[in-house]
Formats: sequence, structure tokens, C-alpha cells
Amino acid sequence: MNHPVLFDCDPGIDDAAALALVLAYLDVRMITTCAGNQLPIKTYTNARNLLSLMGREEIPVYQGAPKPLVRELRIAAEVHGKSGVGPVELPESTAPHTTKTALEASARFLSESEQPVEILATGPLTNIAILLVAHPELKHKIKGITLMGGAFHGGNTTPVAEFNMAVDPEAANLVFRSGVPIVMFGLDVTRQAQCYREDIERLREVGTKTATALAAMLDFYSNTLQLPVLAPPEHVEGVHLHDPCAAAYLVDPSLFTLVRCNVEIETKGEFTAGCTVVDYYHNTGREENASVAFAVNREKLIDLLCDAVGKLN
Ligand code: RIB
Ligand code: CA
Repeated sequence: MNHPVLFDCDPGIDDAAALALVLAYLDVRMITTCAGNQLPIKTYTNARNLLSLMGREEIPVYQGAPKPLVRELRIAAEVHGKSGVGPVELPESTAPHTTKTALEASARFLSESEQPVEILATGPLTNIAILLVAHPELKHKIKGITLMGGAFHGGNTTPVAEFNMAVDPEAANLVFRSGVPIVMFGLDVTRQAQCYREDIERLREVGTKTATALAAMLDFYSNTLQLPVLAPPEHVEGVHLHDPCAAAYLVDPSLFTLVRCNVEIETKGEFTAGCTVVDYYHNTGREENASVAFAVNREKLIDLLCDAVGKLN
């Protein structure tokens, strides 16, 4: 049975692909936006306009925290472009602007939901941390938090920290210590989720407006990719489908291989802040607080994404 979904994101090109997946297959009830790939007003506007593109303007979008809990905001304009969605001109949303904050709206949604809610988080975890700290009495209404972030080996923002964790390590620490069930899609698995030039063309050939726009975003994203050193030479234009991994798990968990681990977040290190310390070999004896993804069926993930964009406008 599909649980209702609260999607917190920072669109963001790969967030846009994740949005297509969850809209096509799941019961998305609301979107909250966080600062990360771009400034808060841009991720909020992009979320609204992506819903317009995909024909789902009825889903409310709420703007979240304007910056990380304690650190200054760093964005990724060099990866997602000045707009946050590469060169693509999205249709302007005609939906009325929401008046509640992300915290007010998400707390009310959890409180009123008859079923436990799946939280999907594909940006820095600021909004989720604030929700858990402000409303611990609602934790039992959260079925789980499925998130893109972190890594067992190697960062993409510092040598040891992935972007979402590096932007707000304190928020990530609060989320991983909250006791809420977590499924973590880190760079170890998302770097396997390569979308190659021929996959982008296959996506474009689906022919919907969503397919065309997403293909154009992925073209732009390809040009900003930090190439994985092991990329097969014929696939150097590949792009990592980071956020779609977390979204796809909620649609079809069988695409992934997960391992239960203790995960702690470094918040003090001068050179290591944001590092997800994944106790894969259980050296510490600390409680296993997360299921960490280590493998993905790449071909099936691409199939799912192509199918999803065919179900949208
Ligand atoms: O490190 C990849 C993550 O950072 C993705 O969520 C991408 O959208 C950026 O937010
Ligand atoms: Ca993201």
C-alpha cells in the first residue's frame, strides 16, 4: 500500500528527475523546499514550476528554512546553473502561493495523516531536522526518512563529505540520531546510477514535455559532472542520478542492495565536517541507525525514469 509522501528537496536537476519518479508512481501530498543547490527562493520557485511542467500544480509547495541550522549557506550553481535547473525555461506556476511555513505545513500534515508518512529528502536536511526537533511527538507518524546524502567512501564537496551533508552537518546529525528509520542513498550507490548519453536520448525520445525538459537538464548536468575515475571511456558523458536513487527506492526497493549500519555525522572536524562515518564493518558496536544502499540495478533505474516521464505531461 502506498503511504503518503512528503518530499523535501532543493531543485536542482537531479531533484527534478526524482520528482518525476515520485509523481508518476506515488501519493505525493506536499513538497517542502530547502536551500542547497540554489538559493531558497529559487528552489521554491523551481519546485512550483516543475509541478506546472509535470501537470501536478495541485500539490502544495512550502518554502523551508532559508539557510542551514548554524552554518552559512553554500550553493551549487556551478553544477545546477544560475536558475537551478540548467538552461531550461520552466512554465510559470499559476498555483496560489502557500502562506504556511514548511514547518507548520509538515507538522499539520503528519498530525492529520491517517497513515504514517514517507519522508523523501534529497537536499540538505535542515527542514527535516527542524521538524523533528520542534515536534518529537510526531515521530511516530513518520514511516521512514529515505534520503540522498553522504557516502561510505569519498565526498563530492570535500574529500570526505557529500554536498547535502556538507551544507548542514548539524541538521544531518539530528536526523540520524532521531530514532526515525532511515534509508541512506550515498555516493557509493549514486555514482553507480550513471545516466549515459544514449540514456538521455532515450529519455528525450519519450516525447512528453517533462521528458524533453529533463533531457535538456541532464545534458547541462553532464557537462558539469565530476567524472568518476572508473567511468568506462565510452561513457565519459555519463551523469550521476543521485536523487532519483532515493526516489526509485520508494517505488521499487528491489532495485537496490542495502546494508544495516551505524552512521554518525562529523560536525566538529576542521577538514571533515559533514562526513558520514558509516560503520560498515561494525567496528564500533554502535546501534545500526540506518539502512545504507551499496548497489543499484542501473538499467532498471533508467527504465523506471523513462516510464515515469511518459506518465507525466
Ligand atoms: O551530492 C548530490 C546531492 O547534492 C544531490 O541531492 C544534488 O541535488 C545536490 O543537492
Ligand atoms: Ca538535491
